[in-house]
Amino acid sequence: MASKTLVYVLSTFLFLLQLHLSAGQTTVVKGAYWFPDSGFPVSGIDSTLFTHLFCAFADLDSTSYEVTISSTNAVQFSTFTQTVQQKNPSVKTLLSIGGGGSSPSTFASMASQNSSRKTFIDSSIQLARNYSFHGLDLDWEYPSSATEMTNLGSLLTEWRAAIANESSSTNNTALLLSGAFFYNSNYYTINYPFQAISNTMDWINLMAYDFYGPGWSPNVTGPPAALYNPTSQVSGDTGVKNWIQAGVAAKKLVLGVPFYGYAWLLANANSHEIFSPANGVATSISPDGSITYSGIKDFISNNNATAVYNLTIVTDYCYAGTTWIGYDDTQSIYTKVTYAKGNGLLGYFAWHVGADKNFTLSRNASVTWG
Ligand SMILES: *[C@@H]1O[C@H](CO)[C@@H](O)[C@H](O)[C@H]1NC(C)=O
Ligand SMILES: *[C@@H]1O[C@H](CO)[C@@H](O)[C@H](O)[C@H]1NC(C)=O
Ligand SMILES: *[C@@H]1O[C@H](CO)[C@@H](O)[C@H](O)[C@H]1NC(C)=O
Ligand SMILES: *[C@@H]1O[C@H](CO)[C@@H](O)[C@H](O)[C@H]1NC(C)=O
Ligand SMILES: *[C@@H]1O[C@H](CO)[C@@H](O)[C@H](O)[C@H]1NC(C)=O
Ligand SMILES: *[C@@H]1O[C@H](CO)[C@@H](O)[C@H](O)[C@H]1NC(C)=O
Ligand SMILES: *[C@@H]1O[C@H](CO)[C@@H](O)[C@H](O)[C@H]1NC(C)=O
Ligand SMILES: *[C@@H]1O[C@H](CO)[C@@H](O)[C@H](O)[C@H]1NC(C)=O
Ligand SMILES: *[C@@H]1O[C@H](CO)[C@@H](O)[C@H](O)[C@H]1NC(C)=O
Repeated sequence: MASKTLVYVLSTFLFLLQLHLSAGQTTVVKGAYWFPDSGFPVSGIDSTLFTHLFCAFADLDSTSYEVTISSTNAVQFSTFTQTVQQKNPSVKTLLSIGGGGSSPSTFASMASQNSSRKTFIDSSIQLARNYSFHGLDLDWEYPSSATEMTNLGSLLTEWRAAIANESSSTNNTALLLSGAFFYNSNYYTINYPFQAISNTMDWINLMAYDFYGPGWSPNVTGPPAALYNPTSQVSGDTGVKNWIQAGVAAKKLVLGVPFYGYAWLLANANSHEIFSPANGVATSISPDGSITYSGIKDFISNNNATAVYNLTIVTDYCYAGTTWIGYDDTQSIYTKVTYAKGNGLLGYFAWHVGADKNFTLSRNASVTWG
């Protein structure tokens, strides 16, 4: 009799646990961002390779503090979820707000007042629901003072409360809440609000890339998204360890990987190691040297470039003549995804899906995670 009761209690417990997990808990993020100017059609995304797709970017209105979608993007954004779910009905979508091109001071000013935070929060939820997104993703690049970090904490706490309220009053599954954050737990010594992040966010995307580029490191080549860096603290591994040490659980961290690289002009064609002398951007590639993974693979085959993987740093690079490109190919992606899983992180995400070549990197990452 006692054991029958125990079995009953246990199976009820397991059922409820399962319900809880399926309702609230994200168990893995295999993510990628998409944005309209990439020129890549939403319908072309192989969504079977992802659990989460981020649609970027919604804007923050600088006077009303409402979240808006530009009229140029309205059709693609409003059909985004429906389109990507055709190939994978269980893929989740998040509307990403802000981005590198948005004004950090508008975010700072929105977050500084209770009333403008409320406007932002309420409009974001309304927009997400109206356009059938499963969640919201904050891309404020970057809060850059102690006060702004405190205000970010208030924003997140109030946002989560509003999301929970909306969910219980409408009986809909709560919206997901994530954010794209600096790779390191402090932004040039200013700490993020760790407690608020831990309490409110489903996860945070660590932008572990753009460490070196010809725009800000013109005189020497470098690994744009090093996982390890023997010469400095600037690396994905350092960032991940600092976030965990600050008290944010590994299971809240998602490691960012780039599906693009940067091209430098070498000072000397015969000196083509990592950290070689350079003369700025290889403008034959693009004005800022940035180039998609797809473009890099074409560059390699068109120019018979030499491609090298450096396993100490975990970066790929290639060179032909005086053009030198640092990027992530399959070995780097494979090693980073293995690192993320091995260190108990929640997953990985890529910027950006339209830069991949025939989904080579997306597929490698997804299969590698398992
Ligand atoms: C700020 O707004 C929230 C609702 O968004 C409210 O619960 C809270 O009391 C407000 N705080 C202050 C100090 O006005
Ligand atoms: C809701 O979406 C429809 C299109 O699906 C659009 O016409 C309308 O403006 C949207 N409303 C808000 C408040 O976003
Ligand atoms: C809670 O949600 C309901 C329904 O969405 C809304 O009318 C109400 O204003 C919300 N309350 C707060 C404090 O956000
Ligand atoms: C709320 O959701 C639950 C579970 O999905 C469902 O059983 C219930 O009928 C819903 N209640 C209302 C009022 O819609
Ligand atoms: C790169 O070299 C130029 C010319 O020597 C120098 O003026 C500039 O300060 C250097 N830039 C950096 C970031 O070191
Ligand atoms: C990787 O790059 C570093 C820095 O340039 C260099 O010291 C090291 O020898 C390289 N490793 C391999 C295996 O090439
Ligand atoms: C490509 O480069 C390799 C050495 O890296 C060389 O052996 C080969 O002949 C080159 N092919 C062409 C078509 O230039
Ligand atoms: C991923 O790339 C690594 C390194 O190139 C390779 O060893 C591995 O087989 C690839 N995995 C898949 C599934 O393509
Ligand atoms: C694209 O990838 C698929 C799956 O790996 C492969 O079957 C196909 O041949 C590839 N197409 C091209 C053009 O490389």
